[in-house]
Amino acid sequence: MTWWRQTAIYEIYTLSFQDSDGDGFGDLRGVRSRLDYLVELGVGTIWLCPFYPSPMRDWGYDVADYCDVDPRLGDLGEFDALLRDAHARGLRVILDLVANHTSSEHPWFLASRHSRTSPKRDWYVWRDPGPDGGPPNNWLSFFGGPAWTLDPKTGQYYLHHFLPEQPDLNYRNPEVLEAMLEVMRFWLERGVDGFRVDAAAHLIEDAHFRDEPPNPAWRPGMRERDRLLHLYTEHQPETHGVLQRFRALLDRYSEPGAERVLIGEVYAPVEVLIRYYGSAEVPECHFPFHFTLVDLPAEAWTAERVREVVEAYEGALPAWAWPNWVLGNHDRPRISSRLGEERARLAHFLLFTLRGTPTLYYGDELGLSDVEIPPDQVKDLPGFREYGGRWSRDAARAPMPWDGSPGGGFTTGTPWLPLPQDFRTRNVDALRKDPRSFLHLVRQLLHLRRQTPALAEGAYRSIPAPPGVYAYERVWGSERLLVALNFSDRPRVLEASGDVLLSTHLDRSGRQRGLLALQPYEGILLRPSSSGGTMEVTTDGEEAI
Ligand code: GLC
Repeated sequence: MTWWRQTAIYEIYTLSFQDSDGDGFGDLRGVRSRLDYLVELGVGTIWLCPFYPSPMRDWGYDVADYCDVDPRLGDLGEFDALLRDAHARGLRVILDLVANHTSSEHPWFLASRHSRTSPKRDWYVWRDPGPDGGPPNNWLSFFGGPAWTLDPKTGQYYLHHFLPEQPDLNYRNPEVLEAMLEVMRFWLERGVDGFRVDAAAHLIEDAHFRDEPPNPAWRPGMRERDRLLHLYTEHQPETHGVLQRFRALLDRYSEPGAERVLIGEVYAPVEVLIRYYGSAEVPECHFPFHFTLVDLPAEAWTAERVREVVEAYEGALPAWAWPNWVLGNHDRPRISSRLGEERARLAHFLLFTLRGTPTLYYGDELGLSDVEIPPDQVKDLPGFREYGGRWSRDAARAPMPWDGSPGGGFTTGTPWLPLPQDFRTRNVDALRKDPRSFLHLVRQLLHLRRQTPALAEGAYRSIPAPPGVYAYERVWGSERLLVALNFSDRPRVLEASGDVLLSTHLDRSGRQRGLLALQPYEGILLRPSSSGGTMEVTTDGEEAI
C-alpha cells in the first residue's frame, strides 16, 4: 500500500486559507503557519491551488511564470520553507499544474502573438478566420462566447477554452510538451510530491478543427458551452499521450514509498474517466479526480442512487486501479450548501469510509456554506459568466474562519472576499470547543481511517439494507467493518451486533446488540461481533422500532 492510496488530500485554495501580511490575500507563509492544524485534523497531503505570478484574471489559473511565486503570495524561499515544514510533519505537497493554457501575459504567448513567423507562434493554437471572417469553427469557451479570439495584429484567431487571457498551449508541438516537462522538473527538484493537472481533459483538440454538433439535451439553465456536444474539444485520444509523458517523468523521480503522483482534473462519466488511468503497462494518472458526487444534485442523494454511483465506479475500475472520492472544490457550490449540514455530515461519513483516496475541500470540515456575494462585488467574473450570472465561484472560496475576531483570524486587514456570514460562531476555535461539531466528526473519521487498515485499504463489499439505507462492508484480512448510512429523514432499523466505532451524530459508541436504530441522516461505523457471514439486515425499516 503506497502513501497516495492511504492519504487523505486537503485542497487549499491558497488565496483564502491564511493571510500572513495583512493584505487580505492568503499566502504561502500563512499556509505554513497552519500546518499543525492540518496534522491535528488528520489529512496527509495538501494540494495547493496556484500561487504563481499571475494577472489574476482567473485568480491564479492564468499563469505568467510557472517557475516562481506571485509576490502577493510569497517567494521561492517561502515555498521551500513551506515544503520543508510540511515534510517535517509528514505532510505531502501537491501543486496545481495549469498545463492547458498560460496567461496572455506569459512571455511564451507574448512571443507567439508577436508575428506569424515567431519561433513560438506554433506554441499556441492559431487559425485563420472562417470563410465569413468570423471564428475558425463553432467551439465555445467555458467562460462565455467563442473559444477563439482574433488577434488584429496578425489577423489570426487563437484558441482559449477559458478566458481570452488564457490562451491554449499547443501540445501537438513537441517543444511545448518539453517545456512543460521542464516546469515539472523544476518543482520535482525542489521536492514536491506530485501534481494536480488542471483541465487535463482539454490538453489537445481535434486535429481537423471540426465543428461540434448541437447537444439535444441542452436546456435553459445549463451552461452555454454545453449547447454543443464536446466531441472535439474534450478527451481526445492524443491527450493520453501527453499524460503518459507526464507520468513517465514522475516515475523517474519516484522511489518505492516516495512516489510522485499525477492526478488529473477530469469531469467525465466513469466509462470515460477510467481511460485517464491508462493501462497497467502504460500508466497515466495515479487517479483522475472522480467528480460524480460533486455534481450529484441534492435530490439524487438517496441511498439507492449513491449506491449506484459507488458501484458503477467500483465496477468500471480495472483491478489494479485505485478509486478516489471528492465532494467539493473551488469551482462548485459547497456540499453543506447543496445538502444542508445534516446530510453534509453523512456525505463526509461516506467520503472517509469508502474505498479510495478522499479529497476534502478546505472549510468543508467546518460545514461552511457558500457565502453570499452581491453582484457588484463579484471577483470571479469568468465563473459568474459561466453560470449565467446565477452564481459565482467566489461563493465557495470564502476566507477560512479560524476564530471570531474581526478578520476571522484569516487577516488583520480587509479580506479579499467576504468571510462566511456566520463566521463568528462557525470557526475553527468555536468548533474545536464543541465535541459534537462537524470538525470533530471529520477529525475522528480521518483518525479512524489512519488507524484502521480495513478503512484505508480494505475491499468494498455491498450489503443489502432497508429502503433509505445504504450499507457496505470494508474487509481487510479477518477484519470486517460495517458502514450503514441512513439517507432518509426517518429512523431506520438494521439487525446488527457489535461495537459502534463512530456515529455522524457523535452521541453514541460502544456495544450494540440486536436491532440497530439509525436516526434520520445518521451514519454508523460498526465492528461486528459475529465472525464470518454477512450482516443480517431487516427490511421492515422504522416499523421494527
Ligand atoms: C480548472 C480550475 C478552474 C479554472 C479552470 C481554468 O477547471 O479548477 O478554477 O478556472 O481550470 O484554468
